[in-house]
Amino acid sequence: GKGAAMVTAVAYRLAAQHAERQAILNILRLSHEQLLEVKKRMSEAMVRGLSKQTHEQGTIKMLPTYVRSTPDGTEDGDFLALDLGGSSFRVLLVRVRSGKKNKVDMHQKIYNIPQETMQGTGEELFSHIVDCMSDFLDYMGMKGASLPLGFTFSFPCDQSKLDQGILLNWTKGFKASGCVGEDVVTLLKDAVRRRGEFHLNFVAVVNDTVGTMMTCGYEDPKCEVGLIVGTGTNICYMEEMENIEVVEGDDGRMCVNVEWGAFGDNGELEDFFTQFDRDVDDCSNNPTKQRYEKMISGMYLGEIVRNVLIDFTTKGLLFRGKLSDRLKTRGIFETKFLSQIESDRLAMRQVRSILQHLGLTTSTCDDSVLVKEVCSVVSRRAAQLCGAGLAAVVDKIRQNRNLQQLSVTVGVDGTLYKTHPHFYRIMQETLQDLAPQCKVAFLKSEDGSGKGAALITAVAYRIQNGEQH
Ligand code: GLC
Repeated sequence: GKGAAMVTAVAYRLAAQHAERQAILNILRLSHEQLLEVKKRMSEAMVRGLSKQTHEQGTIKMLPTYVRSTPDGTEDGDFLALDLGGSSFRVLLVRVRSGKKNKVDMHQKIYNIPQETMQGTGEELFSHIVDCMSDFLDYMGMKGASLPLGFTFSFPCDQSKLDQGILLNWTKGFKASGCVGEDVVTLLKDAVRRRGEFHLNFVAVVNDTVGTMMTCGYEDPKCEVGLIVGTGTNICYMEEMENIEVVEGDDGRMCVNVEWGAFGDNGELEDFFTQFDRDVDDCSNNPTKQRYEKMISGMYLGEIVRNVLIDFTTKGLLFRGKLSDRLKTRGIFETKFLSQIESDRLAMRQVRSILQHLGLTTSTCDDSVLVKEVCSVVSRRAAQLCGAGLAAVVDKIRQNRNLQQLSVTVGVDGTLYKTHPHFYRIMQETLQDLAPQCKVAFLKSEDGSGKGAALITAVAYRIQNGEQH
């Protein structure tokens, strides 16, 4: 009768809604063939970045780092380190003692960098950094000391030696004026001079990927790759000198900072971008830039999720079709919420309470299930894309060395990688699938940006002093 017809109508409507939702999510799902294609394009982009002729036009910069070897245990001394560009800004004192492996001693303080300072003038930014250094030296009772400094500056820098780095462009949340095209060591030293309170010794500029590789290399000599999946994403690896055409010399290896976040900026990923990616890009600090990073890293994943949820809601597929002001607010889905929502141990009612905490109160139980599914589709795509890029990098190392099989360790850091319940597994599965000739071990870096920077500074400082005396 009438009742049965109504039930059928409801069932029909639910099935149609389900299909509509899945059709949208399918745009974000990648096949094996697509991922293989990403790997292939990444490999090509890397080769273009290394070659002298195509280096300038390439999207992936393949920046030489002047780090020529992984640590050998003879590094020694006390160093200051600065870590700028990750989820927090830190000043550290690192004591490295040769021979005593893993006996690196560290003290650190975390400082806040207000949004206005990140996006104000370069002078303000660097003065703020120096204020924090000064506070740290006071705190440690070391104001008079003049130690060598490892400056982990996690942005693309053109280096022609270790103690210089010309900022090519800002990425992530930074856009302080007057810094692009300048040497960040000079900017830092100028700010120290302005304050007139302490002196700076030798300053080595280090990307966070390189610091991570070096830290893990201290424990595992097979660690020749450094990967970051945090606020941003990037990778470095040991490349043959003869392939690095922009640097003189053909002997041995040098670590290359790939800056893979910019992959896709020439349209190499056009067929992979969805409307959600375009929206995230449009609303970012750096539209049209860092397109691969914007599909993978912590600063953007939550925004992709939010855009999908907005789309679902406007189509009446979620939150009873009511678009709340909260959902329209940028940045509500921080990495930690994504990681929580996707945790397997979480019951649906807990997902619901996270949503409530985020201010999304209209949610029903069905809504929670759907939000969790959106999160998992978006983070799966991120992990797979990252795995495809990683496959290109390790296969390049394997081919460089003419090996059938390569066994290599990747040092990894970054909040998304470390806190997300599934990212690691999915990335690894993709990697195995796309680079079957590489046996890859992963080592989580303990505080790479501090320790690694100190190790690099130790080597550089020794060489510099050896050269001078
Ligand atoms: C951004 C930066 C890169 C850094 C990465 C991870 O991609 O451009 O230098 O390594 O974020 O922090």
